[in-house]
Amino acid sequence: MAYETIIVENSDGIALITLNRPDALNALNSQLLGELADAVEEADRSDKIRCIVLTGSEKAFAAGADIKEMADKSFVEMYRSNFFGAESDRFLRVRKPIIAAVAGYALGGGCELAMMCDFIIAADTAKFGQPEINLGVIAGIGGTQRMTRFVGKSKSMDMHLTGRFMNAEEAESCGLVSRVVPAKKLRDEAMSAAGKIAEKSLLATMAVKDTVNRAYETTLAEGINYERRMFQSLFATEDQAEGMASYIDKREPQFRDK
Ligand code: HXC
Repeated sequence: MAYETIIVENSDGIALITLNRPDALNALNSQLLGELADAVEEADRSDKIRCIVLTGSEKAFAAGADIKEMADKSFVEMYRSNFFGAESDRFLRVRKPIIAAVAGYALGGGCELAMMCDFIIAADTAKFGQPEINLGVIAGIGGTQRMTRFVGKSKSMDMHLTGRFMNAEEAESCGLVSRVVPAKKLRDEAMSAAGKIAEKSLLATMAVKDTVNRAYETTLAEGINYERRMFQSLFATEDQAEGMASYIDKREPQFRDK
């Protein structure tokens, strides 16, 4: 598919999606989010793709929702279109793992988009923030909910109420990101993590994503029960038999996603 606001490159089981509105620091407009939803759905459907990496430029992962697109909208327009709601829901329905590789600004909707991915690898140049308060609004695609679950109430309130930015070091120490790497190594590090994931059984990686996400949707007891059933059900797969046999035989597993 031909896209105008993103670039999609597929290689070795990985779909690398690069946000590409350089003149607007990758601000998220309707076209970009629509194209992004199309691209992740296409990767999810593809038999060749096993992991997705989402990244931006050196200067910005994404500097937020496009303020110029939103500025003149009325409540009625925002409500009737359920602004960015459908695109976010489509992104969140993807069952394959999505890694966010963040350099530079990840602000507002950009920070929210990174948090909608399964984990975040940050360059040492990354700056995260929810500065919507400075525009007289609040986060609108999950920021108040996801950030609070990820970093706790106090820091989430601080970020949303003051609109301050958080650097990569702080983001790692509070659990917003999984690792920080030098900016020059960001893409390689994210592709290498994706490559490792792509070697696993796709059934197991999809089960991990589904089950970890369950931790945010349900009680501990229900989540543990869900995990137990998912674990047990993987014994219906050939990949479980292959994975365990390969360990015992001291060889690399040959997963076939069956
Ligand atoms: C539209 C944006 C933009 C944005 C940057 N640009 N962010 N355009 N929407 N969110 C544009 C600028 O207008 C400018 O274009 C160009 O990108 C370069 O930006 P500069 O400001 O010149 O760069 P710099 O001085 O380096 O400052 C970088 C920055 C600043 C600190 C990131 O651009 C900034 O504060 N941006 C807004 C961040 C923000 O408030 N995000 C939250 C948005 S609300 P021109 O053509 O003027 O040169 C949101 C709600 C989510 O995200 C909920 C959705 C449902």
